[in-house]
Amino acid sequence: MFGEELADLSIFIQTLNGGSSLAPWVPTRDELLPYIMNLAKVGPNDVLYDLGCGDGRVVVEAALRGARSVCVEVNKELISRAEERARKLGVMDKVNFINDDFFNVELKNATVIYMYLLTSVNKMLKPKLSREIRIGTRVVTLDFEIPGWKPVHILRISLGYRDATLYLYIKGISDIYDLSI
Ligand SMILES: C[S@@+](CC[C@H](N)C(=O)[O-])C[C@H]1O[C@@H](n2cnc3c(N)ncnc32)[C@H](O)[C@@H]1O
Repeated sequence: MFGEELADLSIFIQTLNGGSSLAPWVPTRDELLPYIMNLAKVGPNDVLYDLGCGDGRVVVEAALRGARSVCVEVNKELISRAEERARKLGVMDKVNFINDDFFNVELKNATVIYMYLLTSVNKMLKPKLSREIRIGTRVVTLDFEIPGWKPVHILRISLGYRDATLYLYIKGISDIYDLSI
């Protein structure tokens, strides 16, 4: 138990120190996974990208629902954990792992993008999203908005101990009146 906590602490410090790490590792709570999948209507025809995928829980959940998914994570230790999770749950063939900065990864094949980052990072990613993702692509963010984009749905979830907010954006609808760029 103590060993696991130390490993988590070391990952946390790495994400703080890592040159291209723009957000620390704070995993999406497991209870939120069904809400995320249902809000984005993730199914077998989808390709879900998690930008900063941490230990892979979101991409693996998408794969369990029949989608293909792409786990983009700058932290090597976390990518290994994500691979381990996918292997354990039998979805290695459905998930692609990329140990790199998400700014280096082409997003044009995504039908769904998930981001649990910070508002400032979402703002930095916005020009890339605008350039690369296709019309109709769903973008779900947890707790932090994409400034200037209009969510088509906001889902507030009360988990008892801490509330969560999911924002659903659709490229071609949410971004058309963005005057903030
Ligand atoms: C708040 S955590 C979210 C983890 C995962 N998406 C989840 O919801 O469980 C943010 C993650 O983004 C990763 N990250 C931060 N900056 C990154 C970058 N420039 N490129 C790729 N990953 C990055 C961190 O290492 C961390 O794992």
